[in-house]
Amino acid sequence: MKKPVATEKFELGVCYYPEHWPESMWEDDYRRMRELGFTIIRIGEFAWSIFEPVQGEFQFGLFDRAIDLAHKHGLQVVLGTPTATPPAWLTHKYPEVLNVTYEGVTLQHGMRRHYNYSSPKYRELCARITEQMAEHYGNHPGVVGWQIDNELNCEISEFYSESDHKAFREWLQQKYVTLERLNEAWGAVFWNQSYSDWSQVYLPRPTPSPKQPNPHQALDEKRFISANTISFAENQADIIRKLAPKQWVTTNGLFGHLDSHELTDELLDFFSYDSYPQFSTIFYDPNERNPLNDRGWGLSLSIVRSISPNFCIMEQQSGPGGWVNRMDMPSPKPGQMRLWTYQSIAHGADMVLYFRWRTATMGNEIYWHGINDYHNQPNRRVREAGQIGQELAGAGQALIGTRNQANVAIVRDYANEWDGEYDVWHGPFMWKSNKEWYKALQRKHIPNDVLYLRKKTTLEELARYDVLIYPHPAIMTDETASLLDEYVQQGGKLIFGCRTGYKDERGQCYMRPFPGAARDLCGITVEEFTMVKGSRQPTTISWSGAAEGVTGADDFNDILRIEDDSVEVMAVYASDYYAGKPAVTRNRRGKGEVWYYGAVFNEQAASIIIDQVSLQSPVDWLVLPEDVELQVRNGTSSSYTFLLNYSEAPVAIHLHETKMDLLSGTTLSGEVTMEGFGVLILH
Ligand code: GAL
Repeated sequence: MKKPVATEKFELGVCYYPEHWPESMWEDDYRRMRELGFTIIRIGEFAWSIFEPVQGEFQFGLFDRAIDLAHKHGLQVVLGTPTATPPAWLTHKYPEVLNVTYEGVTLQHGMRRHYNYSSPKYRELCARITEQMAEHYGNHPGVVGWQIDNELNCEISEFYSESDHKAFREWLQQKYVTLERLNEAWGAVFWNQSYSDWSQVYLPRPTPSPKQPNPHQALDEKRFISANTISFAENQADIIRKLAPKQWVTTNGLFGHLDSHELTDELLDFFSYDSYPQFSTIFYDPNERNPLNDRGWGLSLSIVRSISPNFCIMEQQSGPGGWVNRMDMPSPKPGQMRLWTYQSIAHGADMVLYFRWRTATMGNEIYWHGINDYHNQPNRRVREAGQIGQELAGAGQALIGTRNQANVAIVRDYANEWDGEYDVWHGPFMWKSNKEWYKALQRKHIPNDVLYLRKKTTLEELARYDVLIYPHPAIMTDETASLLDEYVQQGGKLIFGCRTGYKDERGQCYMRPFPGAARDLCGITVEEFTMVKGSRQPTTISWSGAAEGVTGADDFNDILRIEDDSVEVMAVYASDYYAGKPAVTRNRRGKGEVWYYGAVFNEQAASIIIDQVSLQSPVDWLVLPEDVELQVRNGTSSSYTFLLNYSEAPVAIHLHETKMDLLSGTTLSGEVTMEGFGVLILH
């Protein structure tokens, strides 16, 4: 039985580093946390050298005092296992634990996450520190849960130490048993890569063109990294389960080359996420049309919800970001930190901890600001945290355990994500289409889920949604296609984009007309195709029934041929030598329908399709401007409608029914003004 995120009340708290501050400050820190309404802190996740300053000598004094004092002040404690930052004595004595880059450079101290998951020595020493900590704190009344490591696969999610090559080889031997099968799966006959002895097999290594490994080997590499990361975390989870059975186990993150669904199913009580909405502005393409910025972060939160319907935010952005030489971000404006907190909650969080209590005065993160500034005097962010603390002390309990409502899901899967890293013929399309669909749905106030297709996904899970959007699944097995067909036959609407269905599980191309495994679902084949870039002028699509008429046919064009009578042409290409040929089709199949959109999606096209498949906002008693996000969390007998205003300016909304705002306790109806960055939770 998995333990829930929160049982009695909404938990609000903060990440705290007692080892960074004079002990004389702790009492005042804890007292002020309680004043703000905080009930929980996370500590210890980088403090290995404090717990084990010398190999085999364990010292718990500092953390005993910090935890006891927190407990005395009524703060619960989440303990991090400190394995993201091995001590200097450890890496000095056992350099084999260090990670090595693709190019062969060994990573050293200075930052964090400079170790590998495969070294037996590192696993042994991690198990020992975890055992010592779990034995020591497993029954502490103040400790409620554990965070394994910190952000598995953050900073770097590739590993090329000697132990990694060896572990990969062993993983492959288990998977393929014979070299003949490995050679076949990797298409090793191409460019003479066939192996005649297992000792010749490695993880991808430098090639004449930078980073040009065999793509099938590279896909297996990602699968291996994920399995290896999970098995590294499992060592710690098993120890904590045994020695601290009453405390919950989680880990924080959402990083590359890790099947976080599998990780959570196998090891964790629930998943935790670190939410920094400002990343949406520094990571995204500055030339993006009509971006969502911080609001776009909700797409990541939807992924987190697909892992754990209710989750913990272990780190919530509470100030401007910045490391000494990168990630410089603006300061949240008044109300933005509160908006982002409710963004997390609107998407399913039942516990939120801010990062961090006070900005560090030393180290790489001196510009990554917490709630308190270096000077530790009252400031605007502290006051804002206090307001949130007060609101959640009243309103939070009603929300915990309630589930998000969505009639549409964006579908993804790990194999395509990983394969797409080395395949520009589909990888970048997935990211773009996800983002464009999210924009279109958000602006029409239609909440969506994300659904990861996995081997164990059932028809029942799919059938929860009226519409599934699966933009560019290049890899599609016949089994997946037939599961999707069952979904469609019983009434589901399924939407594909270009480059669907032409690869098998190994990433090799089928010798079938496109869209390969999805041919029968779609009732079309692809007559011709082209990238739209370089010497190719941008092309357009002309829609029959839509008011918008013409939209861009972005990035790639599949020119479609109708194969089945059940197929209707919804739009044709409007330019280039294939003008007039089908670009978008709909196949009526059983009680449902399958759409094929021949290009990479943009917001305009997504918006037209939303109307044509009759997707609507689930809330019909509200009129909202575009800038306001709508999310709904439902309990057994109650429903909470979250409204989040991402604009700095006040906006007018209209309520056709009388509702109560959970946060302020006021009754609202008719024309209502939401303040800039304002939040309402209506019920
Ligand atoms: C997270 C990490 C924290 C801190 C924070 C701000 O990725 O877990 O330890 O580094 O970012 O940079």
